[in-house]
Amino acid sequence: MLDEIKALDKEYYMNTFGDRLPVAFTHGEGMKLYADNGDVYYDFLGGIAVNALGHAHPDFTKALKNQVDKLLHTSSLYYIENQAKLAKKLVESTCADKAFFCNSGAEANEGAFKLAKIYFYKKGIDRYEIISLDHSFHGRTLATVAATGQPHYQAPYKPLTPGFSQITPNDFEAVKSAITDKTAAIIVELIQGESGVHPMDVEYAKNLRKLCDDKGILLIVDEVQTGVGRTGKLFAHELYGIEPDIFTCAKALGGGVPIGALCAKAEVAAAFEPGDHGTTFGGNPLATAAGLAVFDIIEKENLVENSDKMGKLFREKLNVLKPEYPDKIVDVRGEGLLIGIEVKPEIAKAVFNGLHNRKMLTSLCKGLTVRVAPPLNITENEIDLFINALDATLKEDI
Ligand SMILES: Cc1ncc(COP(=O)(O)O)c(C=O)c1O
Repeated sequence: MLDEIKALDKEYYMNTFGDRLPVAFTHGEGMKLYADNGDVYYDFLGGIAVNALGHAHPDFTKALKNQVDKLLHTSSLYYIENQAKLAKKLVESTCADKAFFCNSGAEANEGAFKLAKIYFYKKGIDRYEIISLDHSFHGRTLATVAATGQPHYQAPYKPLTPGFSQITPNDFEAVKSAITDKTAAIIVELIQGESGVHPMDVEYAKNLRKLCDDKGILLIVDEVQTGVGRTGKLFAHELYGIEPDIFTCAKALGGGVPIGALCAKAEVAAAFEPGDHGTTFGGNPLATAAGLAVFDIIEKENLVENSDKMGKLFREKLNVLKPEYPDKIVDVRGEGLLIGIEVKPEIAKAVFNGLHNRKMLTSLCKGLTVRVAPPLNITENEIDLFINALDATLKEDI
């Protein structure tokens, strides 16, 4: 079957993903993914930080099936019970006062940029520029590419959407000198995910918050990857003790059903008035049923606490392995269950392949860092399987 899928993909699908890993999954259960040839993999990547509940969680599946039987989509021309309830949930669980739903992380960030711009526009203040950080990742749409601090993503799409600039992370002097009288907002990932799990300095984040307050500009935190329990808190900004004016999330929010959210403080959110922003699919009954079920299960099963506890244990075990391989493991970073294992560049691909051959799914960031973002309900036994596979890979393959 895989050969047939590969042939179809090659002939009909745009070649944006190149040669994929040679596996197609048919179903999953918990941490396990079953391939069409009967191989069983452990999903330590969680669909890139999406599958917070693992695969085919029975309560999640039941909630989705219930909703599918009733109603998929109506349009936001009408009131939507699940949408209103999920907005309530997000607002009551965070520092935000209002939420808006869309379909992806990039779209949530687009919404954040629009909200920041319209906030100043409606005040009659000429501020429209957005500052972001080098090595950041904010999405694949034109504005989010302009905000993404990685030149290779930007190069083919020049001229970029104007008004975006990037600065060095954790360099407070750099941000101070980058701000102009046109700056509307600064957008940051508190833990940069795609570039290899790089947590921001706490002091820098707190200083950024204060600087934004002093200058009257908005702080946007991109929680697309870090949100919904991933870092051992519901949102990473709690770890940092700061409250953003706007934050975005997506990925884990729908547990695999596409949904993004834009969350903001009341005064900022009020800038959006009828007609200023919108969406066809965003926050439809199915997507928001998924979001409600994710929150419900996370609460019932204490998964934020589990993310914190298992994340600490995972990093402890990796840090026990690290001194055994001083020439191979460079660093172990992360918070909760967003973990980066940086290895020597010359062995990185072999480490990734060794894990894959041992049926452990991960991703390799920047050709240097093995990233894991497993389901939040992972157990110690499953962590041990990974540690053993990494140990064997480092011992036997390299
Ligand atoms: C921090 C961050 N922001 C935005 C995005 C874009 O999200 P999406 O792929 O859902 O558009 C990603 C995706 O990896 C991300 O990690």
